[in-house]
Amino acid sequence: MSDNVQVADVVGIGESAHARAPEPLLQLQDVRKVYPGVTPVIALRGVDFTIHRGELVAIVGPSGSGKSTLLHMMGTLDRPTEGSVRLVGSDVAKMSDRELAKLRATRIGFVFQQFFLSEYETALENVADGLLYSGVNRRTRRALAAEALDKVGLAHRMDHRPPQLSGGERQRVAIARALNGNPDIVLADEPTGNLDSNAAATIFALLKKLHREGATIIVITHDRGLAARLPRRIDVLDGRIVADVTQGATGTVDPELTVDWARDTKEQA
Ligand SMILES: Nc1ncnc2c1ncn2[C@@H]1O[C@H](COP(=O)(O)OP(=O)(O)O)[C@@H](O)[C@H]1O
Ligand SMILES: [Mg+2]
Repeated sequence: MSDNVQVADVVGIGESAHARAPEPLLQLQDVRKVYPGVTPVIALRGVDFTIHRGELVAIVGPSGSGKSTLLHMMGTLDRPTEGSVRLVGSDVAKMSDRELAKLRATRIGFVFQQFFLSEYETALENVADGLLYSGVNRRTRRALAAEALDKVGLAHRMDHRPPQLSGGERQRVAIARALNGNPDIVLADEPTGNLDSNAAATIFALLKKLHREGATIIVITHDRGLAARLPRRIDVLDGRIVADVTQGATGTVDPELTVDWARDTKEQA
């Protein structure tokens, strides 16, 4: 990315993913994963699905069903034992570790349950650091980080460090970091696992807002109530997909999940 790229170009302002024909972004075909050991664990037993650009998908299942393993496959953090993963048309199996690292850094944004923020840096620095290896200069990194924080309702918290923020706010910083640089897809593994129900609802409302703005998001959760409010839900059980359901029109406004930052800010960290 060159430094004269406009901020709006990088963050995709004004683009609507819904206006384009559905483009397959992530395709899993018969993905199997075995963790070797004295007693090998079969974590995935043949998983097939396609995620199109602009989708917001919940992956739901009980603990141990293979959700995080699936996220590692989708995020190219690990390779399947068998089967294929294609991301924006490229077969992950055919790529070197170096190529995969580049693919991850430019195409995928990750969000995890534990936030993984630096306690000693401000929200702005945490988000800006997400673009450290992108070739973008510091000034542009900070400008993009400020825009990303604004998108998640934290324009007034840019100079705060994580210990000064609520759990929900910290996760919003992590989401801003994942979005910064305009990745093709955001993968979130139990982003509300450490949050109370109000903060969790706020995070889901935020994911819906970002989806309406064009982001492609896959969120892993054990919260069936929140998952039921997203446009598509994939149920995982014992390493298999047991349901893949379209639950409502893309972009539908859900009154129960409108963004209410105040609800989140009241929460105690
Ligand atoms: N690195 C690993 N080595 C061995 N077994 C693992 C590893 N990671 C996960 N597992 C096992 O694979 C199964 C699926 O785990 P995981 O994908 O973490 O499920 P979930 O995220 O749904 O809780 C579980 O039985 C788990 O113990
Ligand atoms: Mg997990």
